[in-house]
Amino acid sequence: MNNSNNKRETFSSGLAVFFATLGSAVGLGNIWKFPYMVGENGGGAFVLIYFICILLVGMPIMISEFYIGRSTRKNAVGAFEALKAKPFWKTIGYMGVLSSLFIMFFYSSVAGWVYSYVFKALKGDFLPLASMSMEDAALNASSQYDAAVSGSISPFVWQFIAVTVVSIILIAGVKNGIEKITKTLLPLLFALVIICCIRALTLEGAKQGLSFLFLPDFSKLSASAVLSALGLAFFKLSLGMGTMTTYGSYFTNDNNLFATSARVALSDTLVSLLAGIAIFPVVFTFGMEPGMGPGLLFKTIPLVFSKIPLGNVLLVAFFILTSIAATTAMLSLVEVPVAFFIEEKQMSRNKAVLLSSGLILIIGLLTVHPKSVFGNVVIAGKGFFDLFDYLSSNIMLPIGGLLITIFVGYVANKDQLSYELSNHKTLNNDGMIKFYISILKYITPALLVIVFLNSIGIINF
Ligand code: PFF
Repeated sequence: MNNSNNKRETFSSGLAVFFATLGSAVGLGNIWKFPYMVGENGGGAFVLIYFICILLVGMPIMISEFYIGRSTRKNAVGAFEALKAKPFWKTIGYMGVLSSLFIMFFYSSVAGWVYSYVFKALKGDFLPLASMSMEDAALNASSQYDAAVSGSISPFVWQFIAVTVVSIILIAGVKNGIEKITKTLLPLLFALVIICCIRALTLEGAKQGLSFLFLPDFSKLSASAVLSALGLAFFKLSLGMGTMTTYGSYFTNDNNLFATSARVALSDTLVSLLAGIAIFPVVFTFGMEPGMGPGLLFKTIPLVFSKIPLGNVLLVAFFILTSIAATTAMLSLVEVPVAFFIEEKQMSRNKAVLLSSGLILIIGLLTVHPKSVFGNVVIAGKGFFDLFDYLSSNIMLPIGGLLITIFVGYVANKDQLSYELSNHKTLNNDGMIKFYISILKYITPALLVIVFLNSIGIINF
């Protein structure tokens, strides 16, 4: 055991565990990705499939990752060694470190757009929308978005700023950095999203927006939509790549892993639905296209607040809080390679953070912007931005998740599993543990394999 392990930090309380873990789950996925994916995939039916994925795939995998992390108190790679697993299983950890970098390449770029929107709202760039007709306001918001993401300098600068903020918090450590920031800021995020919903629900298109979000229309559901819902569940709950293993390794010993996973999954889904309730009424009120893709958030939210008193103040607040959500999620993404470098490569925390952020910035800045050196490269019909997103969410996280399921369901020692899940009280499987193990052994992997084979065209349903 190396000495970095002696100084290993943990979160200080159950509440801190909840907020940090929720801080990882809640992020751009809820406010940016969830609404536009619901829009692209036909609304309510997609939401329903997403719920099923959360319950039958997401939660069992989250509990498994907590178990791997907390029982070993190690990073995503070292944990498998500590469990005395065959070297093959360490692949899950290595793939996790890689996935976290892949996600950060594009995620930090979108976080940069969000940061830049705080600045734009502060400068009053959206104030003129107030006196425009609805169509003109929608057009103006669209062109401001295009200018913000495809400019030749500002997207680079904002991505750099986003990664720098994350690095500073991570250097402060688990308790003084991650825990403090998430505990202070997440409750504020909730409050602000609720205010946005209230405003959106008073718009003309509220009814249409809500029907779109909640009424399932299965004719619009394709096989690729089912894979996307599964990928989104992984992305949303930060699963399949060692993030929850790493955070689990900082949990307190008395934390109930089942309860934490249920609380986090439910609260996270609530935030996604609230974001949908804030966004879709605007889409229908302003005659926008729900399936417009990644620009959806940036083109709608400025409109939500454009015609109400103090709208610009609320707009600033909304983008500040979206920046917070993006930042707390990035903390957990970057903590995966950081914990790996500290414990497996014996680096200091500062060095590990600098190395991880450096890799993210160099590769991210060179690839994901349309104006960058490799910005025009297209592989398998996708630019780098979409490629990193597709490879991580739809391929690497589900494969990581499947391997974790097989490892915990079939390979791991069940006495030890029960001991950990019961908070060190029993070696016997009680009802809840038995139920979880049977879902993990039979249902979760079956669903993963079916959806996966279907998406690559080997079977059709
Ligand atoms: N869950 C985050 C979101 O929904 O924005 C994104 C994310 C964080 C994905 C951490 C994966 C991860 F490990």
